[in-house]
Amino acid sequence: MEFNDVYRNERVTRKFTNRKVNEKLLAKIIMQAQQSPSLLNSQPWKAYMVTGGALKDLKQAVKQQIADEVEPHEDFAPTLDLNWDSYPSQNMAAVGASQPYFFNNKIDLFKDANDTMFNAQDVVFLTIPKSSPYWSVFDLGIFSQSIMLLAINEGLAVMPAHSIVAYPELARKYGQIPDDELVGMAIGLGFADKSAEVNDPKYIPARLPFEKIYKLVK
Ligand SMILES: Cc1cc2nc3c(=O)[nH]c(=O)nc-3n(C[C@H](O)[C@H](O)[C@H](O)COP(=O)(O)O)c2cc1C
Repeated sequence: MEFNDVYRNERVTRKFTNRKVNEKLLAKIIMQAQQSPSLLNSQPWKAYMVTGGALKDLKQAVKQQIADEVEPHEDFAPTLDLNWDSYPSQNMAAVGASQPYFFNNKIDLFKDANDTMFNAQDVVFLTIPKSSPYWSVFDLGIFSQSIMLLAINEGLAVMPAHSIVAYPELARKYGQIPDDELVGMAIGLGFADKSAEVNDPKYIPARLPFEKIYKLVK
């Protein structure tokens, strides 16, 4: 695919079909993403591709946590009750405010999609060592972006989600992730369910006006 087409197609997908991705293709994508730059070539990342029975068991365990009303507790930090700087907070609020409008007050669609891991059949958990500096979080972000663009180039749909790592002890258990690694992010990989309302292409969260984020200084 042309790079511009890959990049233009970078949208998240909140419902996947039941079709699994070929395991060799999944491995190829992660291997190619290893070319990502990192601070002093530290390559702090590791990738745990969880699929099949292991993913089914993980989803079941997460479902139970949600039923038991256990608060999400991501390793990085809970996202929704943070006292963030007002700049990203306002942007997040704008996304939140547009959801009921888009979903015609069927916000459950969004919640159900998150609670069921978007029906992803293949999920990659991305970790860095627990004793990492901020630099490694930056590196992990680059690695994640590489994985997503490479996956889109292969015709796959992607879903990066903090909600998938809401219960990191379960990700560790079912993903065989060692205790000394931070479960930073997870990305669902697969095929978009184009008939799903939650994937309606009308819902494209707007980006900020360019002038708000860019300054040319001479
Ligand atoms: C680090 C990260 C975490 C995210 N977590 C979630 C999530 O838990 N649930 C969700 O529905 N979307 C999640 N998203 C998707 C964003 O909401 C989405 O990228 C943003 O609204 C822009 O939409 P677009 O990528 O389709 O243009 C996440 C994205 C990133 C990069």
